[in-house]
Amino acid sequence: MESPTPNMGVPAELAARMSMAEQHEYLRHKLSRRGLVRGGMIAVTATAVVGAAGGVAHADNGPALPKSANDDYDGVAVAPFGRHLSFGADPATEFSISWQTPVAVRKPFVRLGRAPWDLGHKVEAEVVALHTPALTPTGKPVDQYYLHVKLERLHPGTTYYYGVGHEGFDPADAEHFGTVGSFTTAPARSEHGRHSAPDPFTFTAFGDQGVSYHALGNDSVILAQNPAFHLHAGDIAYGDPAGQGLPADASQYDARTWDSFLFQTESVAKSVPWMVATGNHDMEAWYSPNGYGGDVARFPFIANGPDPAAAPGIYSFVYGNVAVISLDANDVSYEIPANFGITGGKQTAWLEQRLKAYRQQSGVDFIVVFFHHCAFSTTNQHASEGGVREQWVPLFEKYGVDLVINGHNHVYERTDGIAGGVVRSPLLIGGTHRPGTDGVVYATAGAAGRSLYSFPVADSYEGHEAAVDSVPTYHWVSGGGKVTETVAWSRVRYTNYSFLKVDVTPAPAGRTASMKVTALAEDGTRLDHFTIVRTAR
Ligand SMILES: [Fe+2]
Ligand SMILES: [Fe+2]
Repeated sequence: MESPTPNMGVPAELAARMSMAEQHEYLRHKLSRRGLVRGGMIAVTATAVVGAAGGVAHADNGPALPKSANDDYDGVAVAPFGRHLSFGADPATEFSISWQTPVAVRKPFVRLGRAPWDLGHKVEAEVVALHTPALTPTGKPVDQYYLHVKLERLHPGTTYYYGVGHEGFDPADAEHFGTVGSFTTAPARSEHGRHSAPDPFTFTAFGDQGVSYHALGNDSVILAQNPAFHLHAGDIAYGDPAGQGLPADASQYDARTWDSFLFQTESVAKSVPWMVATGNHDMEAWYSPNGYGGDVARFPFIANGPDPAAAPGIYSFVYGNVAVISLDANDVSYEIPANFGITGGKQTAWLEQRLKAYRQQSGVDFIVVFFHHCAFSTTNQHASEGGVREQWVPLFEKYGVDLVINGHNHVYERTDGIAGGVVRSPLLIGGTHRPGTDGVVYATAGAAGRSLYSFPVADSYEGHEAAVDSVPTYHWVSGGGKVTETVAWSRVRYTNYSFLKVDVTPAPAGRTASMKVTALAEDGTRLDHFTIVRTAR
């Protein structure tokens, strides 16, 4: 289980009250007394896009550039790994390609082309060198090298082939040709109504993955669905296994967990954009005052949120007829308040502005919102976050959000249509949901691989329905307390590894567009399915 360990010298009552920024200061101060402080993160090239967004720690007395461990090193000995793709703000024209090298390399680059044998376009990569000192007296320092290339002005609906390399390793060479991958940009969006519908597409989602047999099992099933993109609802790798947002967490932190994670994730993310939200385990106190410096080094977040420097995990994009919004629930969490209020209310104001704009945007039929902490879940471990209910649920209802996807609770759980905190419309397995009148559906897909939680009542899922009219549970309130409640909205519960698949079928204006939502177990067995319908605009 994820419990805090003895802390690093901070009295317990003080530790419980420290914000992420205070923990960061404390950690750097403590380590500087031990003579261990060097830079947290160094963006090398002039086109630094990642370093600028994270409020990251900069070099105190370290080298200005990462160097090879061996000056005679020629790059031949190492291959890139951990390739992962991300959308830019416009998935039809902007992509980022990211990867890692086990040591510093010279002149990292991407080769790109419209055919695997024609990779003539070469783009220099940005290097982000991430240094983690020994965070415990017996630990060892870790240096990691992340490479990023931002691609713009791509053609919509087009497949590109790419390879990543560096001086001494060229993916265009015959011996490395097997490392060449591909991706496909989103279809062009229609601006003013449409007479024909774009092609159907699929996306997938889960949260709380980490590195495990089950995490890899889910990745394998996800790859077989051929998704256009994947949403990771936070608690990404568990480099910080404690996740309490406390100074003591640093004594368990292992930066190398991210190496295993990105190696595991490459199986999907080398061809499927892997879009992450930030959970409680993604706050890592060493790198930056907000705890997100490491995340920003590893993932090229879309920087179109209200305050990318404070909270990089807040952004949005449109793929086909679906608008996707990623939120940072650490900002509103009463349960784990280390970053509570980090955007100063800007996130909620931005959310309303985004929801309003997307509801009016021609060609956008569905709005999907994903973030870490659940508004509605009944597990014994975390249950429901009152901060999300207070700040965001009224907006989800006001603007008829079509689907909310969460993690944090390591189970699959899906609600009926909810409005005003109670069931508006029962949504049975196999049922149809009309968001305008039926309330909002919340799907918790937090069983991606890390571990499993438990429910206070029996599981109920496809082929094993055991309907329960009322479930005893609780929600978190201001100050960190729990308030018990008995609820009727828990429709589907499944205590095993699983994820969400969403099949989107657009339609000509005036006809019915649909999102078929399916929950799959790690062996591909179907656990739940329902269909969300709207009249296409
Ligand atoms: Fe988790
Ligand atoms: Fe979590």
